[in-house]
Amino acid sequence: MNRVVSIAGLALGLGVLLTACERPRPDTVQRGYRGTAMVEVYNPRLLAAQGPLNAVPEAQPAASTDGPKASAVYQNVKVLGDLSVGQFARLMVDMTAWVSPTEGCTYCHAAANFADDSKYTKVVARRMVQMTQHINGDWKTHVAETGVTCYTCHRGNPVPSNVWFNTAGPDAATGMLGNKAGQNAPAQQVAYASLPNDPFMPFLNGAEPIRVIGTSALPDGNRASTKQTEWTYGLMMHMSQSLGVNCTYCHNTRSFAEWDGSTPQRGTAWYGIRMARDLNNEYLGSLAGTFPAERLGPLGDVAKVNCATCHQGAFKPLYGASMLKEHPELSGLKTSLAAPGLAESHDGIIYFGVGSAALPPDAEKALATLVDGLKADPAAKVAISGFHSASGDLAANQELAKQRAFAVRDALKAAGIAPERVMLDKPPVAEANLSGEDPKARRVEVAAVK
Ligand code: HEC
Ligand code: HEC
Ligand code: HEC
Ligand code: HEC
Repeated sequence: MNRVVSIAGLALGLGVLLTACERPRPDTVQRGYRGTAMVEVYNPRLLAAQGPLNAVPEAQPAASTDGPKASAVYQNVKVLGDLSVGQFARLMVDMTAWVSPTEGCTYCHAAANFADDSKYTKVVARRMVQMTQHINGDWKTHVAETGVTCYTCHRGNPVPSNVWFNTAGPDAATGMLGNKAGQNAPAQQVAYASLPNDPFMPFLNGAEPIRVIGTSALPDGNRASTKQTEWTYGLMMHMSQSLGVNCTYCHNTRSFAEWDGSTPQRGTAWYGIRMARDLNNEYLGSLAGTFPAERLGPLGDVAKVNCATCHQGAFKPLYGASMLKEHPELSGLKTSLAAPGLAESHDGIIYFGVGSAALPPDAEKALATLVDGLKADPAAKVAISGFHSASGDLAANQELAKQRAFAVRDALKAAGIAPERVMLDKPPVAEANLSGEDPKARRVEVAAVK
């Protein structure tokens, strides 16, 4: 009897233990048409752990824009000179909270003299302010109006928690075994898959082609090898993991190549790849001489960004919350796409014909409105950027995009607008659609600038 009771007790106890141990059931959300298996799987346990990481720190009250400018009061202000002293001080306090909360102001500043540039961290931070403005102003194709601040990457750490360095390349295991290309050396960045474990150097620093699927039915023409394909898959694993999503967040797996069947998120990701490349080459790469040796990688390069640097496991960094709204000083040079005069009637875009840089007749009205707007507000300035469609030869198209921008600039000049009020602004990616011809892609954007 006693034994039965104790066994029953044990079973009951185990039952209690087991229920307590049971993991919450994953949720699924259907995102594509029925039958396409475009479903996201969410694990409540992982989501709960991710919540605090994506909480947005409270913003300080806005500072007054009145009073003397920072450039007039301080000695060595090269980027943020146009801010009022109040705005400047507020940003310094926030930058400290975002980047070096433990170390404080002296992480960047020599305590005896805040104007001194002797700490490398201050020199890097100045470039980081420019990089952040560049992301917000010139990469709206990826970050939209949400934008980023230092916090998006740093989250209270001087060195962001997800960065990468160059590796010694196709790894050293040569000889009889041949070149492993980083395979079978499981690494976190490709979700421990048996894939080349460094997809970053070729795609997020270099500009190797990512597309590997043939575009014609016959096997001629497609020169992509199995090895190249595995590299592409390595990058795709990184992208999925960084955003916490499946392949079907972007692709309809019936055809990975086809853009028509892909989700809009794949287009955003396409720009994200180009943006990461641009940041790594133009900003982080150029800082190699500024960082001390202990911050550099084994090959002497600076830590660089990938998708995880900003996203940190979320489909949008901070689940899409915008901290930029509270920090307009970190938005780019361009204040709006709609230029003066165009604001009411027009979205600041002039369209062109196929292969043509000649102003079409229907652009005249938009230009006349723009000229009137500029004449009415003599302080206003505009930035002009030319774009092209994806169809045809890239080099010829880039020239075409430039000539389109020149055409608009020349028309403004001919209408009597002083040349110093019209700046040319080469966009980081002039290709404005993802494949083929698109009338909306053949355009010039006119934006008002600060
Ligand atoms: C993450 C780096 C960083 C941190 C932390 C930081 N600053 Fe700065 N600070 C800068 C940079 C960069 C500049 C120069 C800005 C420019 O050139 O436009 C600057 C400039 C200044 C200046 C102007 C000095 C002069 O005369 O030229 C003052 C004052 C200042 N900071 C105060 C502070 C205070 C107070 C704190 C702490 C609450 C702080 N900063 C924290 C990076 C930082
Ligand atoms: C897109 C991501 C990103 C954004 C946005 C960003 N940073 Fe950085 N930051 C990096 C990376 C990557 C490094 C290189 C890591 C290292 O220091 O080795 C870095 C390094 C730094 C360092 C040097 C730290 C050290 O100890 O070596 C400072 C200081 C810094 N950032 C300040 C800022 C400030 C201030 C802002 C906002 C104005 C900012 N960053 C915005 C990615 C970013
Ligand atoms: C966040 C969006 C996103 C996710 C998630 C994603 N991809 Fe991609 N994928 C892209 C983009 C964008 C391209 C095209 C890149 C380019 O052309 O520069 C691409 C290209 C590809 C290609 C090459 C297509 C061609 O034309 O040759 C393959 C294959 C592919 N992805 C497979 C996958 C697999 C497998 C997964 C899941 C492990 C995945 N992708 C997850 C966005 C995504
Ligand atoms: C500088 C920070 C930064 C980096 C680096 C970055 N992203 Fe993003 N990404 C953002 C922000 C901010 C948004 C939110 C934009 C919005 O609100 O629409 C976003 C949005 C997206 C979206 C749209 C999600 C949705 O549900 O609409 C995709 C897809 C995406 N990113 C993919 C990528 C991929 C892939 C990479 C790496 C190749 C990457 N991102 C690198 C900042 C970044």
